[in-house]
Amino acid sequence: MENINNDLELMQTIFKPNRALSKQSRIKNICEYEDLCLDAEEDYEAYWGNLAREKISWIEPFKQVLDESKAPFYQWFVGGKLNVCYQCVDRHIQKRKNKVAIIFEGEMGDYKVYTYRRLYREVNQTANLLKNRFGIKKGDRVIIYMPMIPESAIMMLACARIGAIHSVVFGGFSPEALRDRINDTQAKLVITADGAFRRGRPYMLKPAVDKALEDNQCPSVEKVLIVIRNNEPIEYIRGRDYVYNEIVTLESSQCEPEPMDAEDPLFLLYTSGSTGKPKGVQHSSAGYILWAQMTMEWVFDVKESDNYWCTADIGWITGHTYIVYGPLAIGATTIMYEGTPTYPNHSRWWEMIEEYRVNQFYTSPTAIRMLHADAPDEPDNYDLSSLRILGTVGEPIDPSAWKWFYEKIGRGKCSVVDTWWQTETGGHMISPLPGATPMKPGCATLPLPGIQAEILDEEGNKKDVGEPGLLCITKPWPSMIRGVWGNPQRYAEGYFSQVKSKDGKPIYFSGDAAFYDERGYITIIGRTDDVINVSGHRIGTAEVESAIAKHKDIAESAIVSTLDPITGESLFAFVVTTPNTSCDLKQHMSLLPELNALIREEIGPIAKINNILYVPGLPKTRSGKIMRRLLRNIARGEPIKQDTSTLENPNIVKEIIAIAQGKNA
Ligand code: WTA
Repeated sequence: MENINNDLELMQTIFKPNRALSKQSRIKNICEYEDLCLDAEEDYEAYWGNLAREKISWIEPFKQVLDESKAPFYQWFVGGKLNVCYQCVDRHIQKRKNKVAIIFEGEMGDYKVYTYRRLYREVNQTANLLKNRFGIKKGDRVIIYMPMIPESAIMMLACARIGAIHSVVFGGFSPEALRDRINDTQAKLVITADGAFRRGRPYMLKPAVDKALEDNQCPSVEKVLIVIRNNEPIEYIRGRDYVYNEIVTLESSQCEPEPMDAEDPLFLLYTSGSTGKPKGVQHSSAGYILWAQMTMEWVFDVKESDNYWCTADIGWITGHTYIVYGPLAIGATTIMYEGTPTYPNHSRWWEMIEEYRVNQFYTSPTAIRMLHADAPDEPDNYDLSSLRILGTVGEPIDPSAWKWFYEKIGRGKCSVVDTWWQTETGGHMISPLPGATPMKPGCATLPLPGIQAEILDEEGNKKDVGEPGLLCITKPWPSMIRGVWGNPQRYAEGYFSQVKSKDGKPIYFSGDAAFYDERGYITIIGRTDDVINVSGHRIGTAEVESAIAKHKDIAESAIVSTLDPITGESLFAFVVTTPNTSCDLKQHMSLLPELNALIREEIGPIAKINNILYVPGLPKTRSGKIMRRLLRNIARGEPIKQDTSTLENPNIVKEIIAIAQGKNA
């Protein structure tokens, strides 16, 4: 109870930005923030056009800022030509040749430093390798299934240089998940590593690629390029597999950057939606890089001499925008760490902040909660005084975790930026600005200048203070998703059909619910759809249900989310077994380990059921839709408020509640 009261009190508390920090920030106070918002409101196209002209090194200038004629298929900076790799690497060579671009630290303590000059050379050689050896051309898709090593960033940049569209697949995904993504993109080349290190041990990636490709299950793939990282033995297939480290040095370090159209896709990144298989979110070149850059400047306020560290994995959008593209586009020093925060112990991150004099530290609420719970006073043993800005992303942060982060890590002097955004938005949408916005624990606060975020109902009416509603973006923005790869309908219907527009212009619905406070601050509640956020990872219930449907004893299942003190949410399964189920569930072992093994195989270790309930049936509407909200209430032990009398099988609810209570008793 005391905790809840503390949280409630904290949620009402406003923390002013540190004055010294405000003075040196790009946006110094809330009036400057409001001025920028007004600029955008007065002339939206001029606002974005000016930023794009100023920030991007164009090969050819654009002719039109925004083309809405085929909305929601928007085009930004029409007619402009650029190269994102040039923007991230070449243009720094004059001024920042010997500046450090990437600091890499391996989990075992090894490290590597790339200056911009070294990065330039290796990216050029890699680009030549992809072009000359593997015949990769503009528009070809390349899968990058890699660990957290600098070569991953080099591969992404090399693709951008020659106009190939990369799709990074998180190294924790299973061979099946990898195969789906390869086949959806029709990639010609898969880039991987032998493996890497995690929790002090080698783990392997190449065998997963072999498994994904076996029996010609990915016919589009011609070659596999392997970076040697942990030197564990792997199998090679002659004529298909090549070792990067052996052949890249033979290539020239000059490769002309391909002039790309502003709207040419830069990358695809797969993410879970509410139905079906993960979708390939397509991002553009110019709009994406512009916003990556602006948010690095405004939200992280990175200065020339700063050391910036984001702990995400490059397999997620946060790694794309805030480890690779954003920091390099502004010529910053970005830190990349291979492993886990707890190896060899809970002070690894604090030790690294001290050692590298980190100025911005960007991480997830789950990691904060875990380090807070396991070793709350450990940060006291380190000099963390270099820190100015702390960031969180991916899930709501509870006020007590926020407070620990602010006080223990930031020593009460740093700004905490709780950044709300999505794979689809490309970059931050709602966040405090470090020197300007008074902070409120657990609250993402205000939309960034130029971003028209609003909380609406389904009819498009704005919600009042305190009322939960649908979090929407009502005007297109440069870094927005451009499409779902190979499925334009899923893009148009999936994002623009839920909320009615007053003026006929499509409204983007994020899938999240949120509410305003009296200041107009936005607090994110969470997803309204069938996506579950576990440790900041999006997991589609449909994917998990279809994985466990492969078990012979499962007739039907519904996965819902329940709350977890560390991971935020976790998976709760309601399962109906087949009549002739081979094991008697009351007396024998639970099916849980077998189901989790199936999920691991189909998706990967990031998805795991924590709770299971065997039920005789699932509550459904007359049209056959499972009432997930109701099941979620039961899983969380919440009262049921919905009317259940119109269900296909109203009695089932009582039965399920009785089973749930029996289990908890
Ligand atoms: C959630 C991650 C609360 C949200 C960048 C969103 C957040 C989903 C926050 C996107 C935040 C992200 N507070 N919830 N600051 N940031 N989310 O695509 O539900 O992996 O829709 O992108 O994470 O997850 P994604």
